[in-house]
Amino acid sequence: MQHDVVEKNIGLMIVLIVAVISLGGLAEIVPLFFQAKITEPIAGLMPLSALELEGRDIYQREGCVGCHSQMIRPLRAETERYGHYSVAGESVYEHPFLWGSKRTGPDLARVGKRYSDDWHREHMIDPRAVVPESNMPGFPWLASTELDGAYTARKMKALRSVGVPYTDEDIAGAQAAVAGKLEIDAMVAYLQQLGTHLKARR
Ligand code: HEC
Repeated sequence: MQHDVVEKNIGLMIVLIVAVISLGGLAEIVPLFFQAKITEPIAGLMPLSALELEGRDIYQREGCVGCHSQMIRPLRAETERYGHYSVAGESVYEHPFLWGSKRTGPDLARVGKRYSDDWHREHMIDPRAVVPESNMPGFPWLASTELDGAYTARKMKALRSVGVPYTDEDIAGAQAAVAGKLEIDAMVAYLQQLGTHLKARR
C-alpha cells in the first residue's frame, strides 16, 4: 500500500493505529495469563497478621502511598539502594496493590527490619527528630489512637474471598489480636515485614 494513502485518509489511519496498538497490547498482556509465576506466591509468603493488616489500612488512609512507592525496579541504581528488585509473587496477596509511583520519599518495598521499632516510632511521630533534613510530615496521632478491631475479622473474610489464605482461627482471633493496640503499633508491624519474605528465602 502506498504510504500517502494512509496519510491522507484519517479514518483508515485511525483503524490501522487501533489495530497496531491492540496487537501490541495483546502480545504484551496475553502471555502473562499463562505464566504461573505472576499468580503464584513466592515460597514462604504469608498473609498479613491481623495487626499488620490494620497497619496496611492506616498506610492507605494516611496517604503514605502518595510519597512512597513499594516497587523496586530491576535497575542497578535501585537494587544497590533498596535490595532485590520486586517480584510478582510477593504481591499476590495484595488487594489493592500499593506499588505507587510517586517517590517523594524512598521506596519502602524492602524497608522491613532495616530500622528498629523504636526508630520507626520516633520517625513516625516526628521525622525530623531522627532525620533532620526530612520533609516527611509527622503522624503523631497514630501514637494516641487505639484500635478496637471491630472490622478486622470482616476485612480478613473479604480478603479470603479473593484468595488470601486466612484460616478460620486467624479470623476468629482477629479482633483480640488488634483490640487495645495503638495505630502506631500496627503501622510499625506492617512496615517491619515489608519485603522480608523474599529476603528470608535468600
Ligand atoms: C509528603 C511526603 C511523605 C509522606 C506523606 C510520607 N512520607 Fe515517609 N518519607 C518521606 C521522605 C521525604 C522521607 C525521607 C526522609 C526521612 O527519612 O524522613 C521519608 C522516609 C520514610 C521512611 C524511612 C525510609 C528509609 O528507607 O529510610 C519510612 C519508613 C517512611 N517514610 C514511612 C512513611 C509512612 C508509614 C507514611 C504514612 C504514615 C509516610 N512515610 C508518609 C516523605 C513522605
